[in-house]
Amino acid sequence: MSLLVQDAAGVSLQEQVCRQIRGQILQGNLGVGQRLPASRALAAELGVARVTVEAAYARLEAEGYVSRKVGAGTFVAIDVLARFPVRASGGTAIAGPSQRGLSMQRTTLKAEGNAGLRACIPDMRAFPHEIWNGLQARILRQDSHNALMEYGDPQGCLPLRQAIAAYLAQSRGVRCHAGQVMILASSQQALQLLALTLLDAGDTAWVEDPGYHGARAALQAAGAVLQPVPLDEEGLAWDATCPSPRMIYVTPSHQYPLGMRMSLARRMALLTLARQHKAWIIEDDYDGEYQYDHKPLPALQGLDDTGCVLYVGTFSKVLFPGLRLAYVVAPESLMPALTSARRACDGHSSYLQQAVTADFIRQGHFGAHLRRMRLLYRSRRDCLLDALAPLADELQLVGFESGLQCAGLLPPGHEARLTPAVRQAGTQLRDLRSAHLGPQRVEGWMLGFAGLNHEEIKFETGRLIRTVQRELAKA
Ligand SMILES: Cc1ncc(COP(=O)(O)O)c(C=O)c1O
Repeated sequence: MSLLVQDAAGVSLQEQVCRQIRGQILQGNLGVGQRLPASRALAAELGVARVTVEAAYARLEAEGYVSRKVGAGTFVAIDVLARFPVRASGGTAIAGPSQRGLSMQRTTLKAEGNAGLRACIPDMRAFPHEIWNGLQARILRQDSHNALMEYGDPQGCLPLRQAIAAYLAQSRGVRCHAGQVMILASSQQALQLLALTLLDAGDTAWVEDPGYHGARAALQAAGAVLQPVPLDEEGLAWDATCPSPRMIYVTPSHQYPLGMRMSLARRMALLTLARQHKAWIIEDDYDGEYQYDHKPLPALQGLDDTGCVLYVGTFSKVLFPGLRLAYVVAPESLMPALTSARRACDGHSSYLQQAVTADFIRQGHFGAHLRRMRLLYRSRRDCLLDALAPLADELQLVGFESGLQCAGLLPPGHEARLTPAVRQAGTQLRDLRSAHLGPQRVEGWMLGFAGLNHEEIKFETGRLIRTVQRELAKA
């Protein structure tokens, strides 16, 4: 309990003590049965006479707020939360959100649960917890100067940036050094910082359509005017009617949500276009580490010799999403602007988690974990494809050559008809309608397989098949 009384407040000290304790009880900060400090102790703390506190407690008792038991103390007597479940103040704000806040509320999709055929979820059960915990314990033991507890570099911890630069060069064909890497809390934060730092309100940003809702939200919040650009089997398929872009957001390794890979020819054409328009390309490589059926193509960043590509990667899919660590690789000349924006936002990510992640990579655990997960997810992907064979006539599976999910395409009219029944039956999945910005071009669902073992995949797909067959039989 914290009270503040002032001699010259124009209200007696006893009244001030009474009012503040009453206020705290009414706001629910002091709960029923909670013991108040002894009158002697509170008087000493406030610098007032004990008799003042005694008189205040007596009044509160007379009003029914507290009860006093000789030898035991003074206790809160009313259960304000039971009587007034909505607090008298604190529940309703003085005004509503800004236009920007309202627009974000409208356009941001609600989070789904972690279960079912939910897309983009890795298997946390298969994570090497013991290794991670061991590394963390060792780092904490060694941090005798408490360096990890101080404010750190907004660009991120150098050993982690070095480890990421080495990994990206070797595995993803990204050309960079640690000075070009910035550590962030998530890809989402990377998209936000890039949009805020590089776009002005009214600038045109191209987005894949269908595409990633998180990117749309970040670009829109920065005031960009979004231009939906359709896709073909080679990836983003723009034409001369698209207005000149300032920024282009793409997922070339595994398009979200349809899963195609941008061809080399299209990558080169996109780089040429970006150069001509002096536009930025954001390359979101959110799950490109998981390639099952083909060799990865070099990242757009590695093909770029003009400094227009901003490469975004995340540890959410390759380690675990609760870690909240991701990174952006950008031309070094942008780092002062990006680090200033990060300072204005939240300073930096947890140094302890950055240090653990750096050691996890440098000691070879990351590479081993990725190799193990690639095999595991591939077998789960195969299990999903087999299990959904009975729906082959209705559900065309695409984009399963890589990543943590694939897409199931439905004939026109089926998505709206089937989705409510599927959800009603307990299957969690994302529909493709929510991935569209313009008029819906493709119907279907995203089908996650990585977070489920074979039994769970069979259970989930069995339920989906039964629901779809039952609904189609009704027609
Ligand atoms: C295309 C795409 N980019 C980024 C992310 C999110 O990554 P993060 O958790 O780092 O924000 C996701 C998550 O599912 C995604 O689908």
